Amino acid sequence: MYILAIESSCDDTSAAVLKDGILLSNVTASQSVHEEYGGVVPELASRAHQQNIVPVVDAAIKRAGITKEELNAVAFTRGPGLMGSLLVGVSFAKGFARSLGIPMIDVNHLQGHVLAHFIRESEDDHDQPIFPYLCLLVSGGNSQIVKVNSYKDMEILGQTIDDAAGEAIDKCSKVMGLGYPGGPIIDKLARQGNPEAFEFSKPDIAGYDYSFSGLKTSFLYHLRDWLKEDPDFIEHHKEDLAASLEKTIVDILMKKLRKAVKDTGIKQVAVAGGVSANNGLRNAFRDHAKRYHWKIFIPKFSYTTDNAAMIGITGYFKYLDKDFASIDLPAYARVEKLKN
Ligand code: KG4
Repeated sequence: MYILAIESSCDDTSAAVLKDGILLSNVTASQSVHEEYGGVVPELASRAHQQNIVPVVDAAIKRAGITKEELNAVAFTRGPGLMGSLLVGVSFAKGFARSLGIPMIDVNHLQGHVLAHFIRESEDDHDQPIFPYLCLLVSGGNSQIVKVNSYKDMEILGQTIDDAAGEAIDKCSKVMGLGYPGGPIIDKLARQGNPEAFEFSKPDIAGYDYSFSGLKTSFLYHLRDWLKEDPDFIEHHKEDLAASLEKTIVDILMKKLRKAVKDTGIKQVAVAGGVSANNGLRNAFRDHAKRYHWKIFIPKFSYTTDNAAMIGITGYFKYLDKDFASIDLPAYARVEKLKN
């Protein structure tokens, strides 16, 4: 049984093919057009998706070694994301599935990230979480602790009340005059810096919720003061600034996650989303596994940022349930909870 999966929620056009839940191909075209603007420009993103979607889907089918006539279903990201970007993938999926006379499966992008741990590249790949597990979902648009009870039953225990972790990293990187997206740049610099060099404010909010807007402001104000004393302060201290910023964010994320593990008693802990590519965060997960005997799940780098493989595996589970989408299903930009 072959599924074609399509992801176009933000600035990556991605297509994947799975055979009986095993990944055969995963092709992604990223959009460098946004770099000079320091953030994703929605109109440019949808135009780039328009250009990329046909060649990306074509390449994914070719790399899988099949023809489009062999496909049994088309899974696609329905939301949340940028509406103009989503519309390209959703409309393409509808037209493609219709022309082949096969069912469509709508996938929630966030569920896809959380289920990325079930992507299998071969038959003997069995290192997957057992339900229930906790998942720290950290990306440019989200920071959540999710209790995953089953493929389709997910509960958000806590989430950011303002900025997402990735958004905070990107904005602080922008303030430092570094490129976009800031995450990978901060990560690289942080490896050479002292994480204890500077201290930034940490939020004090109840429960499992996060807040990153105070940190962003604290970073900006500190930097402003230091630049008054030394106009080349950033150049002289960029590694230490990156390492201290990264440590602050990782500490904030892990503190709430420890609390969730303690309160729920669930020691299987996964991390997902673009920020899960961060080496400081990945190391913190490994430390916690040793110290607190957690069984951890860290995705391969290629499955951290937006990709169609995670949409494909989520679509596969829905296919087994015969949970298909109708042709008139609209895309959605925002979602209140992890629903279908
Ligand atoms: O999941 P994603 O690709 O897109 C969505 O937001 O849905 O996540 C993108 C975010 C960006 O904020 C980017 O800076 C961040 O993930 N990111 C990283 C790293 N790689 C990507 N943040 C920290 N360290 C990284 N290595």
